[in-house]
Amino acid sequence: MTTLTDLGLRAVRSLDPERAHRVAINGLRAGLVPKWNVAVPGVLRSKVLGFDLAHPLGLAAGFDKNAEAVGPLLNCGFSFVEVGAVTPVAQYGNLKPRLFRLPDDEAAINRFGFNNEGVEAVRQRLFLKAHPARGPIGVNLGANKLSKDRVADYVTVLTRLADCSDFFTINVSSPNTKGLRDLQEKTALEELIRAVLTARDDVAAEKPVLLKLAPDLSDAQLVDVVEVCMDQKIDGIVATNTTLDRQGLRSNYQGEAGGLSGQPLFEKSTAVLKRVAEVTGGNIPLIGVGGVASAEQAYEKIRAGASLVQLYTALSYHGMGLVPQIVKGLAKLLERDGYTNISQAIGVDVRASSTG
Ligand SMILES: Cc1cc2nc3c(=O)[nH]c(=O)nc-3n(C[C@H](O)[C@H](O)[C@H](O)COP(=O)(O)O)c2cc1C
Repeated sequence: MTTLTDLGLRAVRSLDPERAHRVAINGLRAGLVPKWNVAVPGVLRSKVLGFDLAHPLGLAAGFDKNAEAVGPLLNCGFSFVEVGAVTPVAQYGNLKPRLFRLPDDEAAINRFGFNNEGVEAVRQRLFLKAHPARGPIGVNLGANKLSKDRVADYVTVLTRLADCSDFFTINVSSPNTKGLRDLQEKTALEELIRAVLTARDDVAAEKPVLLKLAPDLSDAQLVDVVEVCMDQKIDGIVATNTTLDRQGLRSNYQGEAGGLSGQPLFEKSTAVLKRVAEVTGGNIPLIGVGGVASAEQAYEKIRAGASLVQLYTALSYHGMGLVPQIVKGLAKLLERDGYTNISQAIGVDVRASSTG
């Protein structure tokens, strides 16, 4: 049966994708939010990064870049929301068009290039506390395209938002700002993480800092990056950002430059997550993101080592109704497999593959 939500989704999908996204954010701000009336099963409750969370599903960075709709997004049922990427100074990003739908692949390609209103605008919104304190708000830290000192940019954004947000993600994995991914190189990364953690310790010692990885690193690079994270005592790792890989796509626009997200990213990002879980040995929490569009896929991320799961692209194909669907489905899967709490399932496939 065609529901109002289906009709709404179809109407929004007939627009240019960036415009459709604007319509979605405006709709959320106007309170056009599906009512969250899910009694979340206790099996999903856990404490991660110091947060008591009713379930593990959060919104990935990039959807609400300017913190315009954090309250409504939490009301849609996400247990946490990551805003940004935020840079010190407002910037336009790359020229339009810069977001493409790949419907036959249930995917998207974007090359936004950190378009955002800058740290002061985001600070004002977060301070207005337009959101009830229903869940943690993270900030995805970025650097301005023309910055002469990118390390200082990450530090500035963290420092300005330390008193109005709950955790931070260092984003060195966006493919859309030239040279940004070079910050994943060992020495540069050590310097960056050290600077960000020092700034955090000065202003908000208790707030976790995570690092978000690209899925396109070689195994040696990945191990290096994870070892730097562990040495520097980062609080968690997000795996992964979008990919430059274009294998196996069927849709128009597959040749567009930018980062690919959605279904085609699922296997690759889950493999990276699993590898990170092997190297970290369960010693720090991981957030699994990339191609999640079902409870089964969220469950696979958890079994591959994720304590929390994020998604973005699937929302544009399935709408916000996906959130309760995944939450309820995940509880059923855990109960089916005999777990009494989600924490028992984290990384079970990692342990199985490393011993077997
Ligand atoms: C349009 C768009 C913009 C994004 N912007 C950011 C960003 O600013 N910072 C970031 O760390 N990730 C960004 N991402 C990546 C997502 O957070 C996520 O890591 C990636 O899309 C994989 O998840 P998904 O397949 O569920 O979309 C963006 C993704 C999309 C589709």
